[in-house]
Amino acid sequence: MYPDLNGKTAIITGSSKGIGASIALRFAQEGINIVLNYNSDKQGADDIVAQITAKGGRAIAVQGDVSKEGVADTLIKAALDNFGRLDIFVNNAGMEHPAHTHEMTLENWQKVIDVNLTGVFLGARAALQYFVDNNIKGNIINMSSVHEQIPWPRFAHYAASKGGVKLFNETIAMEYARQGIRVNAIGPGAINTPINKEKMNDPEQKAALEAIIPMGYAGEPEVVANAAAWLASDESSYVTGITLFVDGGMTLYPAFMNNG
Ligand code: NAI
Ligand code: BGC
Repeated sequence: MYPDLNGKTAIITGSSKGIGASIALRFAQEGINIVLNYNSDKQGADDIVAQITAKGGRAIAVQGDVSKEGVADTLIKAALDNFGRLDIFVNNAGMEHPAHTHEMTLENWQKVIDVNLTGVFLGARAALQYFVDNNIKGNIINMSSVHEQIPWPRFAHYAASKGGVKLFNETIAMEYARQGIRVNAIGPGAINTPINKEKMNDPEQKAALEAIIPMGYAGEPEVVANAAAWLASDESSYVTGITLFVDGGMTLYPAFMNNG
């Protein structure tokens, strides 16, 4: 537990399920007021709100597509109207739509870049604007991936978006460091969420995935939420501009594990 988080307010994009939902639940345990965001899964977001309020926490759910201009401002307005403050903005929403590059449509490319990269820019820009205008030493967390570093065939748009998040994250961390605003990314490896459901339900694909994880298993979303709580807290007060990999060792060149 991180006592400095108690009473703060966080916005978490794409938090109706998966990693975002797990961060919302973990943050609420810390006493943080939560603004959940969903695009289409209202039921999922309402369920998380209900779980938080049942335990005495405070949470609301707000609809919005993060790739659209103005949505981040709506989320911030909701945070201020309901909880009177904003301290933490988590750009978590993301998507995949695999295709071989020579067959990838512009529409597919654009959609993934719009959500995973432009969405992060729009969320961070709105949060920075609010923090700067109000002289708040705010905290921004951007959800990257091991694929900000590891190339991934059939996911060229996804890897390009996460590579973009890496340098965007580093750049704004530097740009706003003197204002006391911290900006960090998390780079999850394979995490057991709806995005990986198909792979995890197929024994062959699951084994192939586990073979490239030195620790030998996919992580649960809670391990990513733990990293987010630490990055949001004062325990990480001298940390900015990093990508914290939470990947069971996936970025350690696992092909070398039995080589030599
Ligand atoms: P998920 O598919 O379970 O959840 C993604 C969430 O983002 C969903 O709630 C979805 O509705 C939301 N979302 C998608 N497009 C949106 C939009 N335009 N506006 C608002 N919300 C939108 O996936 P998961 O695994 O929870 O992924 C969360 C983040 O973590 C993503 O950025 C993903 O790239 C990243 N990540 C996930 C890994 C994994 O193995 N699960 C590994 C590395 C990174
Ligand atoms: C993807 C997952 C994948 C993991 C490891 C993440 O960015 O969203 O689908 O399992 O990287 O490849």
